[in-house]
Amino acid sequence: MNTNSKVLSVEELVKTYESGKNKVQALKSISLTLHECEMLAIMGSSGSGKSTLLNLIGALDSPTSGKILIRGQEIQDYHIEPYATKYRSQNIGFVFQAYNLLKDLTVEENIALPLILKDVNKKEIKNKTTEMIELVGLSKWKTHRPVELSGGQQQRVAIARALITSPPIILADEPTGNLDYNTTIEILDIIKEMKEKLKQSIILVTHDPMVASYADRVIFLSDGNIIDEYTKNSEKGDISQILDKFRKILEVRNG
Ligand SMILES: Nc1ncnc2c1ncn2[C@@H]1O[C@H](COP(=O)(O)OP(=O)(O)OP(=O)(O)O)[C@@H](O)[C@H]1O
Ligand SMILES: [Mg+2]
Repeated sequence: MNTNSKVLSVEELVKTYESGKNKVQALKSISLTLHECEMLAIMGSSGSGKSTLLNLIGALDSPTSGKILIRGQEIQDYHIEPYATKYRSQNIGFVFQAYNLLKDLTVEENIALPLILKDVNKKEIKNKTTEMIELVGLSKWKTHRPVELSGGQQQRVAIARALITSPPIILADEPTGNLDYNTTIEILDIIKEMKEKLKQSIILVTHDPMVASYADRVIFLSDGNIIDEYTKNSEKGDISQILDKFRKILEVRNG
């Protein structure tokens, strides 16, 4: 990995939720970098700030303070409209635990949707959609609707849809949270293959050390702080080492 290839830098991101007198400091001061073609996993107990962090990076919510840089360039007001929409469409693809597919559209139409919304010409939409459907192995299902598909197949549709515009960064919040073990492996293999073929950078939130072992690096969040990190040093990743670190942050939290 080329360490000069920083796709994303997050600098001192803070998020405080306020409702009436209640204040929750969901993120205290988070700094991290994501490199080209890197998969970064974020682990942490429930409430540690994982989704908040992903939502801020994806400009789905506004930080209290802090900066986001894309390829070293600060994106001013990235979370404020109309810049937020532009920032998302140029940089980010989302994959969620709930697949968020449109039920009345076919597999093919769901995958093509981001290109249709971008006003890309018909021929390019057709070519690109066919290519993505083949990459996620759903050619036989392209005219089916989401209800006719298994959870794993629906998540493959969601992945193809997130990747069709070739965003430099994919944000995935518990993408395998609803899937059984074998389907989880299948989806992780697809994400990994896509990452390599399309040079994608991915941030993936997970509770599962096996899922995190697919990542090049793991960051451990506790109470809104990054308190530990793991870097893969073999092809497979060391699940027991990730599990040890994860256990430690749970102990920190439970005192
Ligand atoms: N919209 C909101 N308003 C107020 N507080 C919020 C809001 N969203 C999250 N929080 C709080 O911020 C903290 C971090 O929440 P977050 O959803 O980021 O956790 P998480 O690590 O994703 O948890 P989980 O593993 O359960 O998904 C929690 O204390 C949560 O209650
Ligand atoms: Mg969450």
